[in-house]
Amino acid sequence: MSFCVAIDGPAAAGKGTISREVARHFGLAHLDTGLLYRAVGARVAEGEAPLDAAKALVADDLARGDLRSAAVAQAASRVAAIPEVRAALVDFQRAFARRAGGAVLDGRDIGTVICPDAEVKLYVTASDEIRAERRLKELQGSGFDTDYATVLADIRSRDARDASRVDAPMVAAADAILLDTSRMTIAEAVARAVAEVGRALRR
Ligand code: CDP
Repeated sequence: MSFCVAIDGPAAAGKGTISREVARHFGLAHLDTGLLYRAVGARVAEGEAPLDAAKALVADDLARGDLRSAAVAQAASRVAAIPEVRAALVDFQRAFARRAGGAVLDGRDIGTVICPDAEVKLYVTASDEIRAERRLKELQGSGFDTDYATVLADIRSRDARDASRVDAPMVAAADAILLDTSRMTIAEAVARAVAEVGRALRR
């Protein structure tokens, strides 16, 4: 069975949790594509050229402990605007999307560029303020020393860069189901996503 669930949306909208839970519920593989860009960003911050870093990416890069930092997130968003970097990461993501047994991929361009024929597309959003609150808790829980204003500014600047780039900008696919999680608990958002995927699986 080849079955692809594409989950896109802005920074800290809850894509990660929703994707993990949907994958677990249906026994699908999960790829957090943001990690690819974060890993390239981290290597570039250490002095490597962006395209070299993208081509040289190995599994160990995705297991680095520093990928969740705000500095790496910003570096990711900068390298993600380089068309050659994105191109170098396409084949791996497309192969993952169509692996036997099915897959969930979350990112910014999964429903539009990586897997435009995905069986289910979700575009997950929430207000800037709510996303900043959620990300602040997450970062503080992981031991990062930061504050609300810094986190809000970080996600806003990344969203602006991600939405305005020429190649694969962050945008909801025309056939994506919009999931605004501003007034939902994470459990409610997961339940909605599971229901949508279940509907598509029964089709
Ligand atoms: O977790 P969060 O939503 O904050 O970010 P992420 O999904 O880990 O993505 C980090 C950055 O990678 C984003 O700000 C984008 O610039 C880039 N990205 C992308 O361009 N395309 C993707 N499919 C996934 C991430």
